[in-house]
Amino acid sequence: MNPSPPAAEIGVIGGSGLYALLDGAIEHEVETPYGLPSDKITVASVGGRRVAFLPRHGRDHRFPPHKIPYRANLWALRSLGVRQIIAPCAVGGLRPELGPGTFVVPDQLIDRTSGREQTYYDSGAVHVSFADPYCPAGRASVLNSAAGVNAVDGGTMVVVEGPRFSTRAESRWFTAIGGTIVNMTGHPEAVLARELALCYTSIALVTDLDAGVEGGEAVTHEEVFRVFGENTARLRDVLLKAVTELPAERTCGCQDALQGIKLPFDLP
Ligand code: ADE
Repeated sequence: MNPSPPAAEIGVIGGSGLYALLDGAIEHEVETPYGLPSDKITVASVGGRRVAFLPRHGRDHRFPPHKIPYRANLWALRSLGVRQIIAPCAVGGLRPELGPGTFVVPDQLIDRTSGREQTYYDSGAVHVSFADPYCPAGRASVLNSAAGVNAVDGGTMVVVEGPRFSTRAESRWFTAIGGTIVNMTGHPEAVLARELALCYTSIALVTDLDAGVEGGEAVTHEEVFRVFGENTARLRDVLLKAVTELPAERTCGCQDALQGIKLPFDLP
């Protein structure tokens, strides 16, 4: 008997305010060695590609950033067959020119989280390269799809532990050390994707200017959700185009992330 084909090849992990994406989707409840993912995963075809959608915080926004089951989420997507991921998220701008409504496709990341489960490899000697945290092919596809919204090509995402927003001093420091945007969920999602040899591309929507930026006020939860909501339709258009533009065959290095490394378990 032929093995059944994978349910999906591309995954989209929706951020705050993006809790559904696909019409006519089939729901999958997936269990993993790391527990249940944030929610059921919906799968549908978009332009001939099989796409899985998972709301990062759960459909009812049950999980705050520091409680998201990141390991279960990435594992569950891979077990459905997903090999390329697009990960939208809300961010604060750390530069005055990156105002609300700006899209950024980051190329670097600074981890300022603490205490999160950030690896699958608690045994053995598995050390993945993470110099370039995002997939180059995925970034090119997303940038192409986001040309109509003038997405900024490149930027460094500072990921804070949250759930509070940053002080003005912290925010000024993030800018001084080279940060361009700040959020609470970009890590460990990106590194866990790399540890499963997945392609991972972030697309960030600026919802506010962070507190230390010239012109920035104290960031509020209300503002973040309101601005994200105002831009959901634009984001959805970019995502639905981007999934059709991702390469059918992966030729980037992401799939080789674990090459030559003895793994303590089989990947799903
Ligand atoms: N998400 C959206 N805006 C943010 C900010 N200013 N800081 C951290 N996370 C955010």
